[in-house]
This record gives sequence, C-alpha cells and structure tokens, in this order.
Amino acid sequence: MRTLHTIAELRSALAQPRREGRRVGLVPTMGAFHDGHRSLMRRARHECELVVVSLFVNPSQFNEPADLDAYPRDEPHDAAIAAEESVDLLFAPTAAEMYPHGFATTVHVSGVASGLEGALRGPGHFDGVATIVTKLLSLINPQVAYFGQKDAQQVAVVRQLTRDLNLPQEIVACPTVREADGLAMSSRNRLLDASDRRRALALQRALAAAQQAAASGERRAAEILAAAAAVLDQASLEPDYLALVDPPTFEAVSAVSGPALALVAARVGPVRLIDNQLLA
Ligand code: PAJ
Repeated sequence: MRTLHTIAELRSALAQPRREGRRVGLVPTMGAFHDGHRSLMRRARHECELVVVSLFVNPSQFNEPADLDAYPRDEPHDAAIAAEESVDLLFAPTAAEMYPHGFATTVHVSGVASGLEGALRGPGHFDGVATIVTKLLSLINPQVAYFGQKDAQQVAVVRQLTRDLNLPQEIVACPTVREADGLAMSSRNRLLDASDRRRALALQRALAAAQQAAASGERRAAEILAAAAAVLDQASLEPDYLALVDPPTFEAVSAVSGPALALVAARVGPVRLIDNQLLA
C-alpha cells in the first residue's frame, strides 16, 4: 500500500490504472478505523481492482473547533489497518492541500440535508460533507464509492448530490457493523464508561421496539415512535431526535406504507450516538 499526501501524487498514481480501465473503488473516511471502516474497505476490495481510501479529518464539516481538535488522529495506525485490508492507495492530504488559500466553493444540498443531523449539527455540517465528497469523487473519479448505512442521512445527501450534479459514480451503502451486544460501532464508543456503555444499548433496543411495533401491524408513525421512546425513557435517555422518515428524501412519514427508516440520536454521557434501522 502507498500513502499519498498530495493531489499531484494521487493524480500520478491513478493515471496508469485509469488508462488500463481498471475498476476503482473509493472509501472516504476521517480515520480512527474500526471494524465499520474495515467492512467498507473489504467490500471495495472484493468488488474493485484498485481500492483508494481517503483519510482526511475534514475541518469544514465540524461546527465546533473543539470537536475538530478532539477528533482522534493516528495516521500510522490507520495506515497499518488499511494495509491489512489490502488497500492500494491511502490518500491522506493536509487541510491546506484540500482547502488552499482562496478556496471559495461550497456544495449545499437542501431538503434531505436540512433536518435531523443537519438541524442538530448546524447547516455547515452537511455543506462540509457534500463539498469534500464532491471534491474526492471528482479528484479520484472512482466507478464506485462506499459509505456506511450507520450515517444514513449522509448516504442520502451523497446520493442526492451525485444525482443533481450528474456525477457518474455508483454510491453503495454498506450495512452497519455492530459490537457483539448490538451497539453500532463508532470511534466515540471508547469514550463511554461502563455504565454509559450499558445505557447506550437502549438506542438499538429502541429501534428494535419500533421494528417490532411495525412488524406486528402498527402503521401510525406516532405509535411506532412511542414504542421506541418508552425504551429510551427506561434508560433515562432523552433523544435529540427519534424519527421515522422516507429513506430517499428524509421527509417525516406519518404512516408507514412502504419502507420507512427509523432514526435515533441521543447524548449518552460525554458523547452523542446515532443509529437507525429500516422498518420492513
Ligand atoms: P467517518 O466517520 O470516518 O466514516 C467513514 C465511513 O465509515 C462512513 O461512510 C461511515 O458511515 C462509515 N461507518 C462508520 N461507522 C460504521 C459502522 N459501524 N458500520 C458501517 N459503516 C460505518 O463519515 C465520515 O467519516 C465523513 O463524513 C466523510 C464521509 C469521510 C466525509 O468527510
């Protein structure tokens, strides 16, 4: 595996595989790799001839400078993991490389990006995600890019922007990888103490309760969400949101008539956790 820090190095490493028409897969990340990231790399490795992982803690998607500063960074460790997963190229640029002096363009997605995480984290969050993902897709020009369903709204935002901007890349959403007890993997989980770690399980249990209500025939969103809210309440968790939406548009649904996505976000101790589940 080669680690590349500049756009010039990246372009030259991609020139020959492109000429040869090789299938290129991109996994965009911010590092701090866990098994969720590994699953995306494995899927890309399985489906593509050249696997590129980008590692860039994107300043423009953080609203709080303190959050950006606190984000875990360990490039050598991440590079070792990417090499274990047989990644070909690790693209790890500096902020100045991606946002040089005079950078003036923002990709803003409305609609799907405006509620839930967009509302809670502030309008800059998905602008930052949309801008960096657009840059990575245009720079690397993979045939396919891999994202985690754990960040379901992010996937919907990326799908929206590729459609609207006529970007040719296929966007693949990979299933959420969980700890043995069901907690969705996140680099933030390591900040939970033992008691918060137990309470964190209520997120997934709340989604399971919503799923169970839907499976037993309940169609009213308010009732399905009440079943989930009761589980959070038992764990003394106050959700930032608990929502039932139409997957492609992220518009709230009042009654379930087709596939609906249940989403939850809650602060557990020092961290904010999110999870989601498609209701069949
Ligand atoms: P990051 O949080 O590093 O996540 C990189 C990718 O890993 C995302 O597509 C995310 O959804 C996926 N992922 C995280 N946890 C997962 C899990 N438990 N199971 C499956 N996939 C998981 O998301 C970002 O970075 C950034 O916003 C980025 C898209 C790179 C743009 O800066």
